[in-house]
Amino acid sequence: MEDWSDCLDVAVQITRRAGQMVQSAVKQEKRVSSKSTPTDLVTEADHQVEELIISTLREKYPSHRFIGEESSAAGVKCELTDDPTWIIDPIDGTCNFVHSFPMVAVSIGFAVRKELELGVIYHCFDGTLYTARKGHGAFCNGVRLQVSKEKDVSKALILTEIGAKRDPATLDIFLGNMKKLLSAPTHGVRIIGSSTLALCHIASGAAEAYYQYGLHCWDIAAAAVIIREAGGYVIDTTGGALDLMSRRVVAAGSREIADYVVKQLQPINYGRDDTD
Ligand code: IPD
Repeated sequence: MEDWSDCLDVAVQITRRAGQMVQSAVKQEKRVSSKSTPTDLVTEADHQVEELIISTLREKYPSHRFIGEESSAAGVKCELTDDPTWIIDPIDGTCNFVHSFPMVAVSIGFAVRKELELGVIYHCFDGTLYTARKGHGAFCNGVRLQVSKEKDVSKALILTEIGAKRDPATLDIFLGNMKKLLSAPTHGVRIIGSSTLALCHIASGAAEAYYQYGLHCWDIAAAAVIIREAGGYVIDTTGGALDLMSRRVVAAGSREIADYVVKQLQPINYGRDDTD
């Protein structure tokens, strides 16, 4: 039975290299364009970093498959099969990257038989590295991670992200969900502009829960392994099992807080990654 430890080592090396490429790109002028909506941004650097990651991994693992944010945007089918598959976000927090707002990450997840096996996330501004392999714990710069075990939502800090849709009906639901969680009351709700780094904060116990409609499989894949290995829950917004392609998620340190968040949420339909 493969334990995929060599894949983790390779993912760490390539994530660091990609992160350093993002670090130097931050200081340069950026060529920005938009994808699905005017707020869904992409830069030349997103393409270059994804190309670096996929070409390096493909050379090492020619039989593996790849799902990458920018390849998918360019029309490559986003399909998760039983084959070993790398799931890549070259720059998570592209809008932050464009503004040099210091919350930007490279995220690489890996799934086999549709099971998430490992995740690596690199914070490009401070060099923090989050890693996890199924059954072997989650780590931040080599130090073991542990989620918050808080069960009382009135003591919870909640994280979310806005998503790309900004039409009035979507924003009403988004703000309504946030209002419910603020008035629970919780300690607060935060938006940092990077789904992967927000999810890493759940793994490290810096916040109790995360929810979002509109993120993608490359925003969740690596982080889901890291959170689960830190003792947390990553589930669907209905309370069922996570569906990586469903563009929605609830993550939490405790099942009690996950269930509370699930009960508050009114859904926003973003479609699926594997049918769009
Ligand atoms: C996005 C960011 C953003 C979140 C979106 C993500 P990208 O990733 O994490 O905060 O709201 O859902 O897709 O486009 O910057 O890689």
